[in-house]
Amino acid sequence: MKSPHFSLLPFLLVVLFSLSATTLAHSHEDFLHCLSLRSAKSDSISRVIYTQNNSSYSSILEASIQNHRFSTPATPKPSVIVTPLQISHIQATIYCSKKNGLQIRIRSGGHDFEGLSYVSEVPFVILDLLNFRAVEVDTKNKVAWVESGATIGELYYRIAEKSKTLAFPAGVCHTVGVGGHFSGGGYGILVRKYGLAADHVIDAHLIDVKGRIIDRKSMGEDLFWAIRGGGGNTFGIVLAWKVKLVSIPAVVTVFTVNRDLEQNATKIVHRWQYIGHKLPDDIFTDVTITKVNSSQEGKKTIQAAFKALFLGGVDKLIPLIQDRFPELGLVKENCIEMSWVESILYFGGVSTKSLDILLDRNALPKQIFKAKSDYLKEPIPESGFEGIWPKFFEKEAEVSLMMMEAFGGKMDAIPETELPYPHRAGNLYQASYLVGWSKEENAESQKYVSWIRRLYSYMATYVSKSPREAYYNYRDLDIGTNNNGYTSYAQASIWGRKYFKNNFNRLVHVKTMVDPENFFKNEQSIPPISPSQKKKGH
Ligand code: FDA
Repeated sequence: MKSPHFSLLPFLLVVLFSLSATTLAHSHEDFLHCLSLRSAKSDSISRVIYTQNNSSYSSILEASIQNHRFSTPATPKPSVIVTPLQISHIQATIYCSKKNGLQIRIRSGGHDFEGLSYVSEVPFVILDLLNFRAVEVDTKNKVAWVESGATIGELYYRIAEKSKTLAFPAGVCHTVGVGGHFSGGGYGILVRKYGLAADHVIDAHLIDVKGRIIDRKSMGEDLFWAIRGGGGNTFGIVLAWKVKLVSIPAVVTVFTVNRDLEQNATKIVHRWQYIGHKLPDDIFTDVTITKVNSSQEGKKTIQAAFKALFLGGVDKLIPLIQDRFPELGLVKENCIEMSWVESILYFGGVSTKSLDILLDRNALPKQIFKAKSDYLKEPIPESGFEGIWPKFFEKEAEVSLMMMEAFGGKMDAIPETELPYPHRAGNLYQASYLVGWSKEENAESQKYVSWIRRLYSYMATYVSKSPREAYYNYRDLDIGTNNNGYTSYAQASIWGRKYFKNNFNRLVHVKTMVDPENFFKNEQSIPPISPSQKKKGH
């Protein structure tokens, strides 16, 4: 005979489910009602609200999802998406989410590797800053104001429109959103000359948990420090950033040199590790490892693609590389002179010459992927690389890469505590790994994720230790998450110290000051400390 408990279980589950569904529907309806009450008739918020009943809900949700790992039918969806047109819409969204127990996910460009700007396990709304994307460039004072919803491509385009000798040091992939990118650091091909995007932020407008609009002066230096690398969706909603532009020559030079295993790739990559970070600051180099077809029919090999940006003409670059890195065998035919903004397209793998593509948020193919990052303080021995190559021949690695980007230069000159981003002096390069798969293979995603975890585990011997550092903007939930709904200092330290090292404690201090109730949170947001933890001396 069945135990009465078992026979009751389905019934209880149905009751529980319908209760929680009713509560959910209520909080969602109450949220909408609250929004309508808080918005003046003249600025009706209704035109920027999307619920699952709106025909454009899905297209708005999907529009900036970069990693389609998080756009499956099983992915939790927001109750409501708000695409504010004015500040009062954002203030109303904060107020009404708090009142109705809904979490806010802030989205600017939607490039979060783990989808944290548009996915949550608890009932949530997306605040999508799509319409906050104005860019104002002031070439006379070499500054710009850029709203968070703009892409870095839009910023680059507006700078290039006005000047051939001004630039901004941020990422390569031009569809990345300013909001997440600047608040997590942001590096690109000018990193050795100028450092990070966050290093060049000189003011910001933020809406805090109480709905107040604050700038650098009114937020104070602690909070202003925290938002430049300490991560978005922890401290408030950053609306806009004032940045310092940097000088570049009108003509820069780029090159790509491909070497495969039959062309001594292992030795040349090994050698690059001693050279990339020590070259003059005017040269940035990176190496991308992929599996390609070999020149021998039907065979595969590993290719190392060496790419460089030089802030100057080809005639200066060639002798420099031939002197410092003769193993590469660089020749003039490998090099192309162009403007800095064209070099962004070159590094981004965009073949068109038209700069208009920088304004296209959907210009690059969306992918399904899992990625991870590391920092290298010692060169990997040749034998270490020989252990990496077979992993790229495994069947799960059909779409995979490892990227090594030289640091040194300006990054060595900025103290670790200057901003929350701590990976400065002593890093030869940053490494990142990516594995991708197709939509049809989504059901088997675990095997691809396991592949990248195996590679990551193999790399442990060679990379930074205690902590094993990771780049916050290359979000990786494998390195730790907050408990769902509850964020403890101890738990957050596990991943927090990997991203921020000792800066983690200062971030906790700022969070405790500005959002003690922990309203702005996600799986990897900085926790405030509770009074009892304070007593324990955290
Ligand atoms: P998204 O909107 O997904 O936000 C990311 C995080 O920031 C989320 O937690 C979100 O809630 C929060 N957030 C967003 N806007 C906010 C705001 N206004 N206020 C507060 N919090 C906010 N990085 C790099 O340094 N160099 C590079 O070259 C590249 N290249 C690159 C290419 C591709 C294809 C991808 C997918 C990613 C990169 N990145 C990168 C990583 C990128 O910097 C990182 O994913 C950024 O957080 C993306 O910012 P978005 O605004 O696009 O993301």
